[in-house]
Order: sequence, then structure tokens, then C-alpha cells
Amino acid sequence: MAMMESRSLKGLKVIVTGAASGMGRATAEIFAAEGAHVAVTDYTLEGAAAVADAIVASGGSAKAWKLDVGDKAEIETVVVSIAQHFGGLDAVVNNAGISGFTQIDNEGYDELWERMIRVCLTAHQRIIRAALPYLRQSKSPRIVNIASTEALGATALDSAYSAAKAGVTGLTRALAVELGKEGITVNCVCPGPISTGMTQGIPDDHKEIYAKRRTAMRRYGRPEEVAHITVSLCMPAASYITGVTIPVDGGLMARNA
Ligand code: NAI
Repeated sequence: MAMMESRSLKGLKVIVTGAASGMGRATAEIFAAEGAHVAVTDYTLEGAAAVADAIVASGGSAKAWKLDVGDKAEIETVVVSIAQHFGGLDAVVNNAGISGFTQIDNEGYDELWERMIRVCLTAHQRIIRAALPYLRQSKSPRIVNIASTEALGATALDSAYSAAKAGVTGLTRALAVELGKEGITVNCVCPGPISTGMTQGIPDDHKEIYAKRRTAMRRYGRPEEVAHITVSLCMPAASYITGVTIPVDGGLMARNA
């Protein structure tokens, strides 16, 4: 009989950043539905609290924290207070992110670059460093970083985002190699076009044309279609997958024509 590691997330203590909306929200909800204790964090407490309240109302275990991932001091204090509240930490999902398109030689590019790298890349390493002492105490420590298919291919006018997201894939590989001997897995999920707050400004007909032209599934994805994969990477049984970058993109990266 093979040694069976658990596929259950019951009782695991997890942090999700940017969990007030979109894929972060779906990730928090799925974790909670599977019996995990979820720290729902976002830029504003109100946004996080709305999600945590909804989870608790439907019988799950969640608590909200204000955590601006662009703020180094806030990361350091809030991650500690989450771990102390739950009495440990088993998984971190670095999901919070922003978008921003501009031409490389436009005014304001440098400011956009600084903010993009801070929120979409530097934040990931800072949260991991703050969480590491607690992850080291976990029986199945897991880190999942959310990047994008923009880390693997590129779109014009999106260079700061693309650079930050490609950085996330490099950080993932390097930390997987560094932390593997401690049993900590570090993986990266690259969503394709997903209907969330980030893409809500794109008119529906544009979304449809893009998805038909570019994806194998011929449609935008739903937040939970990404969140299920993110959550699955945090199962105790997912103990021998690390350092990988998984597109969850409806076949966007696979399709040529
Ligand atoms: P969303 O806009 O619905 O959710 C993002 C959440 O992050 C929001 O709740 C927002 O308040 C939060 N956030 C933004 N800045 C923050 C900060 N400084 N501190 C804390 N929270 C902050 O967007 P979505 O699509 O769910 O984005 C989740 C992740 O997926 C992001 O990293 C994004 O770059 C990535 N992604 C999204 C794609 C899409 O098509 N929607 C495609 C590829 C990647």
C-alpha cells in the first residue's frame, strides 16, 4: 500500500494577499470551503472584511487583515500577527497585484515601474521572508506565487508588469531550490485572461474577440478555475512538486493559430 499523504486542507493556516477580489477572493473561499483557516488580506480592511464575513457566514474559518503589500513595515507586523493569531502558518499565497500599461518612453514610466516591481515582485519576497520562521514549523509548508502569462510571453505597453511577473518566476525557482531541503515547496501559477476586477474595464466584445483568437478554450477564465490549482498546490499530498511555473490560461500559451 502506497504511503498516502493527505489531500485535505482541513485545519491548515493560510494567508492570501489581495483576497478582496477576483482570484484572491476565490482562493480564500476555496481554502475555507476545504476547512482551512484563512487570513483574508487586502489593501483596505473593508475589502478584506467583506470577504472574511461572507466566509464566516457560510460556516468557514476566516479573519480579515489590512495588508498593503507595497508597505514593508506593514508586511513585517501583519504576517507576525496573523501567525500569532492562528498559532502558526502552513501556506502563503502571494496573489495581490496591479496592472498598468504605458509606453517605455512616456512620462511617468519610471514611477509605474517602481510601483509595479514593489507590489508585484518585491512584496512576494518580503512576505515569504516574514512567513518563513512559521512555515519552518509546519508539517507541509507551501508557497504559491501568482505571476501571469505576461511572464512567459509579452504584450506591448506592458513592460513593467511583464518584468515584475517574469521576476516572480525566477524568485519561485530560486527559492524552490534553496528551501527544498527543508521540505518547503515554492511554485508559481500563471493565469491567462480571467474575468476579475483587473479586467472588468475591458468591454465584453473585446474580451470575446481576444479569447476566441488566442485561447484554446475560446473564452475568458473564471477566478475559481485558477484558484482550484493554487489551492491544490497547498495540499500536503502536493509534496514533490516545486519550482514549477504552471500556466492556467485556457491554452493561451499552447496555441499558435
Ligand atoms: P483583482 O483586481 O480582482 O484583485 C486584485 C486584488 O489585489 C484587489 O483586491 C486589490 O485591492 C489587491 N491589491 C492591489 N494592490 C494591493 C496592495 N498594494 N496590497 C494589497 N492588496 C492589493 O485582480 P485579479 O485578476 O484577481 O489579480 C490577482 C492576481 O492575478 C494579480 O497578481 C494579477 O496580476 C494576476 N493576474 C491576473 C490576470 C487576469 O486576467 N485577471 C491574468 C494574469 C495574472
